[in-house]
Amino acid sequence: MRNSLTRRRFKSLPRTAAYALMALALPFLLAASPGPEDSAQPPLRTPTNIAWTDSTVAFASSGDAFRGLVLSRRCERCHGVEGFSPSPAIPNLAGMDKLAFWKQLEDFRDGKRTSAVMLTVSSLLSRQDGADLAAYYAMLPQTADPSDTRGFPQALANQTHAAVAARLISQGDVSRGIPPCQDCHGPVAYVRGAPSLISQNGAYILNELENFGNRGRGNDINLRMREISRLLSEDERRAIADYYGAGYGLFPVGSGAK
Ligand code: HEC
Ligand code: HEC
Repeated sequence: MRNSLTRRRFKSLPRTAAYALMALALPFLLAASPGPEDSAQPPLRTPTNIAWTDSTVAFASSGDAFRGLVLSRRCERCHGVEGFSPSPAIPNLAGMDKLAFWKQLEDFRDGKRTSAVMLTVSSLLSRQDGADLAAYYAMLPQTADPSDTRGFPQALANQTHAAVAARLISQGDVSRGIPPCQDCHGPVAYVRGAPSLISQNGAYILNELENFGNRGRGNDINLRMREISRLLSEDERRAIADYYGAGYGLFPVGSGAK
């Protein structure tokens, strides 16, 4: 009996010593552990500096279209005289939502959306200039005037694309969590802050879907477009770009009009 007690006391000694040592070392361990700044959470970075507060929405929506018209001379070379660009790789601006338009200029200037050309252009514009240009371009008609030299619409590159795109644009794909594009991008419904796609160039749309998908573009406030683009297959992205670029998006899917 006595023997076993002694043995127990001996056995527990090293553990007591270990606890004592740990207690002594605790303040040092705490001092060396990473603080809140350099823990696993990276420093907060926002996809854009814009938040749609009431005052920002009011500011971005209240530009002077006539001043915008005068300023738009600087944009004509690339975006066309009536907001339809000569190249399918450069976005058409005619009829673009004011908030979406204004936000893009802010994002380019802030480096939140990267484009060497538009960084230079936007750096020379004030926030008010941006709102004025947004007011002007939002007024321009989105339907093509066959008598001028705009690049839109382009010929549908692949007939099988029409059905694939029409389904995604009007219904999305519930099983993959892809919402119908036309709920936000027209012509059925518009969400403020969403650029219209119904008269957008195909090569440009494809470029943006790839950029959102591979994170080259990440200025969408809620991760929505980065996620949607990632979920689309390469072939689906091409089909959608082809469909809009050919002007099919000007009319609701299934309306029979083209
Ligand atoms: C030298 C050619 C060039 C000039 C000049 C130019 N742009 Fe652009 N712009 C581009 C290109 C190229 C893009 C697409 C950038 C990208 O790929 O992200 C673009 C994109 C934009 C976008 C984003 C459109 C969208 O659908 O998201 C806006 C808005 C815009 N430009 C406005 C303007 C305005 C306003 C001016 C004149 C003050 C102007 N640009 C002058 C070439 C130009
Ligand atoms: C819930 C609304 C919503 C839905 C649904 C949606 N989008 Fe978007 N999309 C947006 C918004 C908002 C932006 C602008 C993001 C930004 O730059 O702030 C955008 C931007 C884009 C752009 C870039 C356009 C430009 O002018 O630069 C493309 C291309 C695009 N969406 C394609 C699609 C496609 C294809 C679908 C369907 C598969 C889709 N979107 C569904 C809200 C939506």
